Amino acid sequence: MCGIVGYIGKRDSQAILLEGLKKLEYRGYDSAGIAVFTGDGLQLKKSKGRLAVLEDILRGDPLAGSVGIGHTRWATHGKPSDVNSHPHTDNSAQFSVVHNGIVENYLELKDELIEKGHVFVSETDTEVISHLIAEQYTGNIVEAVQRAVKCMRGAFALGVLCSYEPEKLVAVRFASPLVIGVGDGENFIGSDIPAILEHTRNVFILNDGEMAVLTREGVELMTTEGDNISKEITRVEWDLVTAEKAGFDHFMLKEIYEQPKAYRDTMRGRIGEDGKSVLLKELQMSDEYVKSIRKVQIVACGTAYHAGLVGKTVIESLVRIPVENDVASEYRYRSPIITPDTLVIVVSQSGETADTLAALREAQRNGARVLAITNVVGSSVAREADDVLVTWAGPEIAVASTKAYTSQLIAFYLLGLHMTRVLGTQETSQEEEMITALQQLPEQVEEILQQAAVLKQVAESIAHHRSLFFIGRGVDYAVAQEGSLKLKEISYIHSEAYAAGELKHGTLALIEDDVPVIALVTQEALYEKTLSNIKEVKARGAHVLSIVNSGFELEAAKSVDEVFAIPKTLPLLTPALAVVPLQLLSYYASLALGHDVDKPRNLAKSVTVE
Ligand code: F6R
Repeated sequence: MCGIVGYIGKRDSQAILLEGLKKLEYRGYDSAGIAVFTGDGLQLKKSKGRLAVLEDILRGDPLAGSVGIGHTRWATHGKPSDVNSHPHTDNSAQFSVVHNGIVENYLELKDELIEKGHVFVSETDTEVISHLIAEQYTGNIVEAVQRAVKCMRGAFALGVLCSYEPEKLVAVRFASPLVIGVGDGENFIGSDIPAILEHTRNVFILNDGEMAVLTREGVELMTTEGDNISKEITRVEWDLVTAEKAGFDHFMLKEIYEQPKAYRDTMRGRIGEDGKSVLLKELQMSDEYVKSIRKVQIVACGTAYHAGLVGKTVIESLVRIPVENDVASEYRYRSPIITPDTLVIVVSQSGETADTLAALREAQRNGARVLAITNVVGSSVAREADDVLVTWAGPEIAVASTKAYTSQLIAFYLLGLHMTRVLGTQETSQEEEMITALQQLPEQVEEILQQAAVLKQVAESIAHHRSLFFIGRGVDYAVAQEGSLKLKEISYIHSEAYAAGELKHGTLALIEDDVPVIALVTQEALYEKTLSNIKEVKARGAHVLSIVNSGFELEAAKSVDEVFAIPKTLPLLTPALAVVPLQLLSYYASLALGHDVDKPRNLAKSVTVE
């Protein structure tokens, strides 16, 4: 996720672009840049680091002009660096591009362009777009962009300037957001409404496959095929704060709703075009190395640790290699047995968690290969690990992790399937069945999100309790642990997660009249066993809400007080669905109690102390 802005009008574009980028910094903040048509032609200024670094540079050496584009980056292809920052340009420096998204076939395109004599300076997919447009240019920038877009696969929102046609700003949307702001004698583009809201409330919301040509006088809308279209102007009534959260009351809720996109983005380009195999091309580890792995250790903290618990079941079930889970702060001190045939997987949203980083170093010191699953390209963990599997969840602002956790699950599924393919541990039909089911998850999450109102009601009824329990077996137990942590951290209600069968060995003593118990019952093979455990708590007066697979509601209703059904998927994949109602329960419980949902007390987003 990155943020793009653009301006064409009569005012100083630099100030407008910088203001717009400030509003988009939540979409990425590892580098920033702008391109402006100045008296000396098309000029760029860009830099690694927060927007403030760019502002400092421009203070000393401003770019004066009334047409420009800007970008704030969340690194995807290529680490955060000056040269990888946007805008990008071609060898003639006559074309400039800002981009949000991923061009899946950029390597193919890059090779073709290199053969034609293009020279590349960055590692990004975006630079390929600027060269591609230059290559396609025959005197009409709109047509050149249309031809270039036809060659590209993936997701992209683009802002394009061409110094041969300095009276135009071209914008394209394809599976990445883009809005066009309509002003008086000036027009704007932005990844999101906050970027332009200060200047206009009149916007065109582009759909996928649509583009806009902006001049000072007006906006022409068309498809990327070149067919003219007309659209109603949307009048934005939000205030700026609401707009930053895309209309949601909190970042946490927004991020919960972004999960279908995060799933799709994390899968994008990693499943073969036939939809039948997973190929993680970004991993440096050879197939020979994968064949030599005898043990896996998954090390992480908090929510990321919980993702690792699901990861253990995924890897053990698919490839039958033993997996250990470690809390990162404990790992070094238990003298873990690390051998050269141990693969250590560290999981970290931020990539900066001190304990996780220390565990990574410990593993490498002992000769293990380390694979990082992280959401931040260029983070310390990503830089130091031997292999990196990035989760494309985009920046997570709320302290309570939601979309990063579920994207970590997707990463584990992909990794498990990748290893399966290399090791041949599953029948091809089983592998294909899982890949098909994996691709259905985003839509299934959308179905769950449509039932948020039901969960709000349940949350309001549990919010006044002082303590509650989550139970489950197998991967349901792993999800129960995440559900419990989520509830604790933002609602401050005490809760514990228990393996359903373990409750009777002590904790059952805490169950009394009306204590809420949330029971996860998604594993068909364990239905009866978990139902027995539910009966144990019911007999002591507990009020039980159970999360079950669709189709099992009626059966479950015989034993519990409330039932919430999630769409049916394969048993290994249920965590990616079952956790969503738990996230919503926590959110609404916190809301009902009047807490600061996005910034819970005593907690920080990135924990860089041990
Ligand atoms: C809880 C939460 C934390 C983090 C943990 C690790 O919602 O976000 O438990 O998961 O602090 O952080 P990362 O993943 O950045 O290493």
